[in-house]
Amino acid sequence: MPTSRPRTILASAAAIALAAGAASADIAEYMDFFEPLPALPPIPADNSLTPEKIELGKMLFFEPRISASGVISCATCHNPALGWADRIPRATGHDGQVGERNTPTVLNSGFLEAQFWDGREPDLEGQALGPIEAEIEMNMTLEEAIARLNEFEIYREHFAAAFPDDPDPINPQNVAHAIASFERTLNTPNSPLDRFLVGDVQAMTDQQVEGMKLFVDAGCVACHNGPALTDSNFHRFELPGSTDEGRFVVTGDEADMFAFRTPTLRNVAVTYPYFNNGSVAELHEAVQLMGQQMLGQDFEEDELDALVAFMHALTGDMPKIEIPALP
Ligand code: HEC
Ligand code: HEC
Repeated sequence: MPTSRPRTILASAAAIALAAGAASADIAEYMDFFEPLPALPPIPADNSLTPEKIELGKMLFFEPRISASGVISCATCHNPALGWADRIPRATGHDGQVGERNTPTVLNSGFLEAQFWDGREPDLEGQALGPIEAEIEMNMTLEEAIARLNEFEIYREHFAAAFPDDPDPINPQNVAHAIASFERTLNTPNSPLDRFLVGDVQAMTDQQVEGMKLFVDAGCVACHNGPALTDSNFHRFELPGSTDEGRFVVTGDEADMFAFRTPTLRNVAVTYPYFNNGSVAELHEAVQLMGQQMLGQDFEEDELDALVAFMHALTGDMPKIEIPALP
């Protein structure tokens, strides 16, 4: 049984469901541990969300010219058709080089309070320029990227419209701000869990409801909580054969050795393979490993099935975007 109610704000959603005769008191208590996904993540004060920035950010997200080879864009690895990730264990970037880590989805990434598996960037603005410059990703200097964008009238227009107060708007900071703005629109509301939480009891199957209860009772929710089902915090997790030191690389603190940021579980059923090095293909095995390593618990087969069914209830509506026409 749940013993605490960390999110009083949701008591009302549960209460509505109850009043509608939709759920038992018992289930209402479990529901208090979850939050429906808001329409938008928090917007930083220094990067207001405007249609002009979103449009420009979308173009840049799909723009391969900001890579050295001219063929790799953000969307190469964060592919909208593949859950905004790539469905391969570890990312393949410039010159076919394979990186150390699995590509996380950018869906709902505005809700994360730490970016990357090791949390080395706090926000999307800080994150955006990294892959352009990373040798094994797009391998491009920012100077060169800016020069290439400057060649196109349409980019000159779009940057001027998005950053009207800036006399020289095509610059790295604005590239980062525009991409981050676009990413903040890539959210997936309306999953079966979200609908269930606002009173649609038919939205989840009985097995998914069992999985939701177990997710709370077993303690998954201690780390996978909040709107994106992550605490944005770091926890030790060891994968056989992996030498990735995780958060330790960033802090040099022994306590952070092999610690990785809790990933979002939203859309986890479509963002396989799993874990920081993508070494686990099946959700079933991923959940089993979580039970063993994070909770010291070996789940029964029917429990695993219920937890996996619940993971499937976290797939929301994919963002409807029109692929931009690039110059
Ligand atoms: C070569 C493949 C590749 C390309 C190209 C690429 N990414 Fe990534 N992306 C990754 C990988 C791999 C990670 C995880 C790296 C890590 O944690 O060290 C990542 C992480 C991220 C994250 C953090 C998500 C999270 O859950 O922490 C965001 C946001 C992101 N990328 C956005 C972008 C943007 C924007 C671009 C284009 C400017 C881009 N990526 C280009 C592979 C790629
Ligand atoms: C102590 C914190 C903690 C607990 C408890 C926990 N997790 Fe996790 N979870 C993590 C971290 C950290 C990762 C990333 C591990 C890595 O790849 O290095 C993760 C990864 C996952 C993944 C893979 C996601 C992906 O995109 O790669 C799934 C699925 C998952 N957890 C489900 C669960 C379930 C189900 C439970 C309960 C049985 C659970 N977790 C309990 C912290 C936790």
